Amino acid sequence: MQKSVRLKSFELIAQDIDSVDVSLLHALSMGVGWPHRPKDWDFLRRAGRGIVAVDGIGRVFGSAMWFPHGDDFATIGLVITSPRTQAQGNGRWLMEQVFEQCGDRNLALNSTKAAYNLYISLGFTKEAIVYQYQGDVAPRLPPLPDLNGQLSELSNDKLHEITALDTQAFGINRERLLALLSEGASVCTLRRGDEIVGYSMCREFGRGHVVGPIVASNAQDAIHLVAVHLKDLAGHFVRIDTREKGVFAEFLQQSRLALSETVTTMSKGRRFLTTNEGGPAVFGLAGHALG
Ligand SMILES: CC(C)(COP(=O)(O)OP(=O)(O)OC[C@H]1O[C@@H](n2cnc3c(N)ncnc32)[C@H](O)[C@@H]1OP(=O)(O)O)[C@@H](O)C(=O)NCCC(=O)NCCS
Repeated sequence: MQKSVRLKSFELIAQDIDSVDVSLLHALSMGVGWPHRPKDWDFLRRAGRGIVAVDGIGRVFGSAMWFPHGDDFATIGLVITSPRTQAQGNGRWLMEQVFEQCGDRNLALNSTKAAYNLYISLGFTKEAIVYQYQGDVAPRLPPLPDLNGQLSELSNDKLHEITALDTQAFGINRERLLALLSEGASVCTLRRGDEIVGYSMCREFGRGHVVGPIVASNAQDAIHLVAVHLKDLAGHFVRIDTREKGVFAEFLQQSRLALSETVTTMSKGRRFLTTNEGGPAVFGLAGHALG
C-alpha cells in the first residue's frame, strides 16, 4: 500500500466577514498566535468591513478587514491566512479584494514582518515603526513628572469634547470609531484651564487591557494619561502600541511593559502620518488594525 497521497487542492471562496461564526475567526487568529478574543472580533466587525476565504464546507482559511474613516481614507488589518495555506497566493488575493472594496481611498496599515514584502509589492510605502509594549504592570509605578492640568474621567455622552483634538492628532476625523471604542472603555482627559489638551482610553482586549488611543501634546502629559489607567491595573496584563521613543517609552518599560514586537506603519496613496509641531500627537494607537 502506498504510504502517501496527494489530495486534490481545494477552492476558496470570498465571503463577507459577517457571514461566518465568530468562533471560526477566533480559531484563525489563534492559529497565527494572535491574542484576539471572540469579543474582540465582534467589536472589529462592528467597526469595519471585511472578507473571509472559505472552503466548500464552510471552513475559514483567511481574513482581511478594512476600517473606513469617511470616503477618503481607511485602515486595513486582520489580514491573516491559515498557516496551511500560506505562501500560495491567498494573502495577495484577499488584499486585492479589499482594494476593490476600498475604492479610491487612501490606505494605511501596520505590517508585521511576515506581511512586509506582500505590502511592498502591492504599492505600500514605509512610514514609521510601531513598538508594542506589554506585560503585567508593576506593583508601584515609577515617579511621575509634575502634572500640568487636571485629569478627569469623561463620560460617553461627552465624547464630542475630544473629537477635534483627536482629529488634529490623527489627521482624520474618526468620530465613529471613537464612539464604538468608548462603549467599553474608561476615558480620561487632561484639561488645562477650559481646554482639553489630551485624552486616553483603556479597554479590555486580548490577554488583558489596551491603553489607547493616547493623544497628548507632550510626553509628560502622555505619561500621566497612561499612569491614570495603569495605577488601577497593578499585576494585570496591559498592552500599549506606540511610535514614541524617549521618556514615554522609558516610562512604559519602568512600569514593566516590555517591548515584545515591532510592526511597520505603511501607506498607499496620500502619506498617512503628519507632523504637528507643538500640537497634539498620537502617543498610543487604538490598535494595529485601527491605525
Ligand atoms: C502575512 C500573510 C497574511 C501572507 O499571506 P500569504 O497567504 O502567505 O500571502 P501570499 O501567498 O499571497 O504571498 C504574498 C507575498 O508574500 C511573500 N511571501 C509569502 N510567504 C512567504 C515566504 N514563506 N517566504 C518569503 N516570502 C513570502 C511573497 O513576497 C509573496 O509574493 P509573491 O506573490 O510574489 O510570491 C500570512 O503570512 C499570515 O497570515 N501571517 C500571520 C499573520 C500576519 O502577520 N498578518 C499580517 C498582518 S499586517
